[in-house]
Amino acid sequence: MKSILVTGGAGFIGSHFIKILLSRHDDLKLINLDALTYAGNPANLKEVAHHPAYHFVEGNIADPELVKDLFEAHDFDYVVNFAAESHVDRSIDDAGIFVQTNVAGTQILLDAARAAWSVPGDARGVPRYRDGVGFLQISTDEVYGTLGSRGRFKETSPLAPNSPYAASKAAADMMARAYFNTYNLPVMVTRSSNNYGPGQYPEKLIPLMILRALKKKSLPVYGDGQQVRDWIHVRDHCLGIERVLFRGRPGEVYNIGAVNERKNIEVIELILKILGEETSLITTVQDRLGHDRRYALDSQKITDELGWSPQVPFEAGLEETVAWYENHPDWWLAGSGGKD
Ligand SMILES: NC(=O)c1ccc[n+]([C@@H]2O[C@H](COP(=O)([O-])OP(=O)(O)OC[C@H]3O[C@@H](n4cnc5c(N)ncnc54)[C@H](O)[C@@H]3O)[C@@H](O)[C@H]2O)c1
Repeated sequence: MKSILVTGGAGFIGSHFIKILLSRHDDLKLINLDALTYAGNPANLKEVAHHPAYHFVEGNIADPELVKDLFEAHDFDYVVNFAAESHVDRSIDDAGIFVQTNVAGTQILLDAARAAWSVPGDARGVPRYRDGVGFLQISTDEVYGTLGSRGRFKETSPLAPNSPYAASKAAADMMARAYFNTYNLPVMVTRSSNNYGPGQYPEKLIPLMILRALKKKSLPVYGDGQQVRDWIHVRDHCLGIERVLFRGRPGEVYNIGAVNERKNIEVIELILKILGEETSLITTVQDRLGHDRRYALDSQKITDELGWSPQVPFEAGLEETVAWYENHPDWWLAGSGGKD
């Protein structure tokens, strides 16, 4: 029986990951530590709320006492750190909580893992850990910054984050690297491109546009709408995370993308087409400060090393996502999606 700490599991990606993991493994105990910020929603996990292997703890990853107590109580073998402030616009308004949660919170989790997993070092005092443990930091392609019209980010590309959100994720990503290099802690990092799918908080592009189109309200597009994002379905991302968690190599970074570049305006037009709405709903608003122009990921490493590849075609995944929001007004009316 393996014991896993998942943080931020009441959010969009973490909740999909928990449901996927519990459906595919019957030898796990899974603890979800989530602070239930505005982005955390227990309704995302109602299917597993009573699963015998699933336990929810409401709390903050940046609380060292709580994290230490959880390690003592549950003897975790793995940590998967999704918990984060995740919205670029909010980080532009106020970066403080992004540093607190994304950077300090990650360091506190890394320290707790180091303390809990430590066994006597070798003769030269090099730290060692018990067998079968691993820490997976969920990072993002935004740490690489922006691309011109050509090329893709590889795991070896330099980090050049442009928003406070991306900078905080890059700092956490580098902290994970440092704990591997300094302390030998078995840490891995995944960097994924933009996710979409059911249950994403409606401040992000795709659910925001779906809900506004459903309400026949204007669809605000930043600047010229020509920003390119590389979209991956959340289930494909979660299956990639599972691969890295159980089979990845400590100290390594794995990009997880679906080679699916779309301009924002194209994504919005496709949503309108699926819903049978007019493009006249689209309006232009002033561009986001420091808005990255293009992201694109090279994910050949995870395919070559771990045999992962994305399965969900974008058009089918987007249709499924639109249908999910159409069929779950109870979910979004209970959150801020009802107000917009
Ligand atoms: N959404 C994407 O497209 C995307 C792409 C690449 C990487 N990521 C990364 O994946 C992770 C999950 O993203 P998401 O879109 O699911 O985010 P989300 O905003 O939907 O969920 C974040 C979750 O973390 C919880 N949380 C926030 N602060 C916390 C704290 N201090 N302690 C405990 N829990 C806390 C929230 O309550 C929420 O449940 C993040 O680390 C994000 O940077 C996201």
